[in-house]
Amino acid sequence: MEHPLVLRLKAFQKEASLELERTEQTQGLQELKVRFLGKKGPITEIMKGLGKLDATERAAVGQVANQVKEQLQQALQQKLEKLETQSLSEALAKDNLDVTLPGLPPPHGSKHPITQTLAEVELVFLGLGFKSYQGPQIETDYYNFEALNIPANHPARDMQDTFYLENSKYLLRTHTSPVQIRAMEKDGVPIRMIAPGAVYRHDHDVTHTPMFHQLEGLWVDENVTFADLKGVLTLFVQRVFGDQTPVRFRPSFFPFTEPSAEMDIGCVLCEQQGCRVCKQSGWLEIMGCGMVDPAVFAHVGVDSERYTGFAFGMGIERIAMLKLGIPDIRLFFENDLRFLQQF
Ligand code: DAH
Repeated sequence: MEHPLVLRLKAFQKEASLELERTEQTQGLQELKVRFLGKKGPITEIMKGLGKLDATERAAVGQVANQVKEQLQQALQQKLEKLETQSLSEALAKDNLDVTLPGLPPPHGSKHPITQTLAEVELVFLGLGFKSYQGPQIETDYYNFEALNIPANHPARDMQDTFYLENSKYLLRTHTSPVQIRAMEKDGVPIRMIAPGAVYRHDHDVTHTPMFHQLEGLWVDENVTFADLKGVLTLFVQRVFGDQTPVRFRPSFFPFTEPSAEMDIGCVLCEQQGCRVCKQSGWLEIMGCGMVDPAVFAHVGVDSERYTGFAFGMGIERIAMLKLGIPDIRLFFENDLRFLQQF
């Protein structure tokens, strides 16, 4: 003869299973769970009373109580899963997908810091009436060197370590200066032009990458003087680095300009106190410039008795590094999102 509590548990199990079968809503399942297994349910009640039974009875009743409890827990879980799958497939069958719900936005990209810097620099010159030109990145020796007064075998060619293409007829342009020649050939003078773009040199370290960007500029007209060069380039620095930025021009050499200069700005990192970046000098070189050499005008048929002009060329990576405080030029081209997402 089974213990009356065991009989009660078994009766309850039967009744609960029937009720579970009849339930067709997940909401109803939640209520059943409370009723079957909750604090006030019969199983909990019987388990609590086990202490009052003698040892053999306690073992027998306790074992059945545990079995019933586990079986009901499992049955509840199975039913829940069954109802959820059912309602999902019903929803899909009815095709009541809500197409008016907002979609998942695709991740938002941003402009590369070099593209941003180039655009900012270009904008200054476009505002001063300069027109933007594009030239080819695969150039001939003539445009990259010869027409810029850098003859073959001239020591000035050593300044730019060039990538030559097969048979040396073509090369990757080492600077944007050839676009000066192409622009004057096409549109003649007077001209006020800039030429942004990629250039290539056989060079790779912390401050050099084999591909980098330059922005070239040229202003040719009657009566253009070195004073115009200083005025335009000083204004450019003030727009890009701030009104109070000190500038200076140092004599230099480029084959296509005479006289030539390097333009420096006061170190933007240490305010001219001297630091690692400016090598304790307080100054940073930002571009080469000068008055167009008559030999260059001769190549494009411009009368150098009538016309004069100034030209300049700057490295965009360098401008971006100084403006954005980037210590290593290679960061621009590693495509590491942790770097790029900061701009
Ligand atoms: N092309 C020179 C270079 O890449 C930079 C430069 C210097 C350009 C002086 C100019 C200039 O137009 O006048 O090193």
